[in-house]
Amino acid sequence: MSALFQPFTLKGITLRNRIAVPPMCMYSAKDGLINDWHQVHLASLARGGAGLVIVEATAVAPEGRITPGCAGIWNDDLAQAFVPAVKAIKAAGAVPGIQIGHAGRKASANVPWEGDDHIPAGDPRGWQTIAPSSIAFGANLPKVPQAMSLDDIARVRHDFVAAARRARDAGFEWLELHFAHGYLAQSFFSEHSNQRHDQYGGSAENRGRFLLETLEAVREVWPEHLPLTARFGVLEFDGRDEQTLVESIELTRRFKDAGLDMLSVSIGFSTPEANIPWGPGFMGPIAQRVRREAGIPVASAWGFGTPAIAEQAVKDQQLDVVMVGKAHLADPHWSYFAARELGINRPSWVLPAPYAHWLERY
Ligand SMILES: Cc1cc2nc3c(=O)[nH]c(=O)nc-3n(C[C@H](O)[C@H](O)[C@H](O)COP(=O)(O)O)c2cc1C
Repeated sequence: MSALFQPFTLKGITLRNRIAVPPMCMYSAKDGLINDWHQVHLASLARGGAGLVIVEATAVAPEGRITPGCAGIWNDDLAQAFVPAVKAIKAAGAVPGIQIGHAGRKASANVPWEGDDHIPAGDPRGWQTIAPSSIAFGANLPKVPQAMSLDDIARVRHDFVAAARRARDAGFEWLELHFAHGYLAQSFFSEHSNQRHDQYGGSAENRGRFLLETLEAVREVWPEHLPLTARFGVLEFDGRDEQTLVESIELTRRFKDAGLDMLSVSIGFSTPEANIPWGPGFMGPIAQRVRREAGIPVASAWGFGTPAIAEQAVKDQQLDVVMVGKAHLADPHWSYFAARELGINRPSWVLPAPYAHWLERY
C-alpha cells in the first residue's frame, strides 16, 4: 500500500494523493496578466495526476513582482484571467491553489534567462523596491530598497487581503501565503534584512509581526472550509540554524493559533552567503521537526522528484504532502509514472476515467 497515493484531507478539501505541484514562476505574464501559456501549463500539470496544483508566486501589488514577467492579482481583471485555469485544474481532478506574495527587495529583476539580476537604475523597465530596512540583498541583487513606513506596512497587508479575496472569487480552493525565499515577508523575519527599531524589528516576536498580522487579516476573508497555508523559510543555512529554527517553530505555532492549516517548509534565501546542503529530500528531517514541534501538517519541496524518495518521505511521516517541482516541468505525468513505479496498477487513483480506463490495460 503506497503512502504517497493515499488521499489527504485538509479542512473541506481532499487531495486525491499526496503529490503537489509547487508554485513555479513562468516569468511570462505582461503587466501581471497571465496568458495562453499559463493556461496550458497549469491544465497539463493537473491532468498528469497530481493532487494539488499551486499557481506561481502571484504579486499582490505591481511593485511586488519579482520580474516584469511575473503574474499579478492586484485587480479584478488580473484575477479573472485565472478562471479558465482554475476550471481546467478542477476538471482534471486536482485542487487549484495559488501562492500570493510580494517580492520586497528582490523585486525589479530581469527574468532568469535574461540575467536573473536587478534591472539597472534608470532603466524604465525597473522600479523602486521596498523592504523592512534599506539593506540590499547583495550579489546579483544589489538594488537598495526603500525602508517601509508603518503606512506602507498597512498598505501591503491590505494588498494581501484584497488578493486573497480575489483568489477566492476566482475559484481557488487552496491559498498559500509566500512567506519564504527572501521576499518581503521572509525579509521581515530575517535579521539579515530586518534591522528596524520599531514593533516590526528586533525580537523574534517583532520580526514575525508582519507575517502574523498578514495571516490574521487574510484569515478574515479566506473561507473557513478552505485550506489556508504558507510557505516559510524556517532556516537559512547561515550557521545560525538552530536558533532560527527554534524561532521559526515558535512563529509557526502562532500561525497555527491564528488559523494556518499547513506549512510548506522551505529555506529563507535571505543571504547570498548561505551554505545549503543540497541533496535528495534533504528538507525532510527539518520539515518533520516542524511538523512534530509545531503540531501542524507540513509539505516540502527540493529534491523529492524521485518516486521512491517521495514515497519514503510520507511513509516516514516527514511530510504530509510532497512538492514535486522541476520533475513536473519535465513530465506533467510524473504522478502517473510514479504510481506505476511504486507498483500501483490502478491508475484510476491518479487519472480520470477517460485516461485510466485505457491505461489500466496499457
Ligand atoms: C521555474 C521555477 C520557478 C519557481 N517559482 C517559485 C515560486 O513562484 N514560488 C515559490 O515558492 N517557489 C518557486 N520555485 C521553487 C519551487 O517551488 C521548488 O521549491 C523547487 O523547484 C524545488 O523543488 P524540486 O526539486 O522538486 O524542483 C520555483 C522553481 C522553479 C524551478
